[in-house]
Amino acid sequence: MIAIYPGSFDPITLGHLDIIQRGSRLFEQVIVAVLRNPNKMPLFSVQQRLEQIRLSTRHLPNVEVDSFDGLTVNYAQMRQAQVLLRGLRAVSDFEIELQMAHTNKTLSTQIETVFLATSNEYSFLSSSVIKEIARFGGSVDHLVPPHIALEIYQCYNHNSPISNPTTTEAITPRKSIPMDQEA
Ligand code: PNS
Repeated sequence: MIAIYPGSFDPITLGHLDIIQRGSRLFEQVIVAVLRNPNKMPLFSVQQRLEQIRLSTRHLPNVEVDSFDGLTVNYAQMRQAQVLLRGLRAVSDFEIELQMAHTNKTLSTQIETVFLATSNEYSFLSSSVIKEIARFGGSVDHLVPPHIALEIYQCYNHNSPISNPTTTEAITPRKSIPMDQEA
């Protein structure tokens, strides 16, 4: 069975990677699908995100990384996938995720949404949280793979993150980048 794991992944987090890793044990193939969304101002281009995710999942032979636009169910049908995989972090995710699953069901009865509960240690984690920490000079080394942490620091023009912000002044970002509310 083929599963699509759709999302913005701006950037991919250890929480997303946890879902991908566990999904890869449940399904024959997991296709991580990055939405090309012209309405959002992302930190990373789609191409950068594809490369980040490919590098982070290269140890998983049944994981493919791709991008798509339009409706997720149309992309899933095009890829002959039967499942949309989504992670659930907390009750706050549930309402929007259930609405999305119901909407997708009205668009295609053939495709099922399967939720995996995010592992406890990542239940607070989102791409937005990561961007906020990095924007104010904090360390995200424990939240994303090392190569992505470096790229994030470069975006915010600082190379030496503060690992203990309680003892040090926050770094003022030189570049102001709008934040999205994606997972
Ligand atoms: O990582 P995100 O931003 O929570 O992912 C949301 C995503 C990309 C899965 C969702 O916005 C989506 O499926 N967009 C494509 C358009 C679509 O299919 N809409 C109908 C379902 S609400």
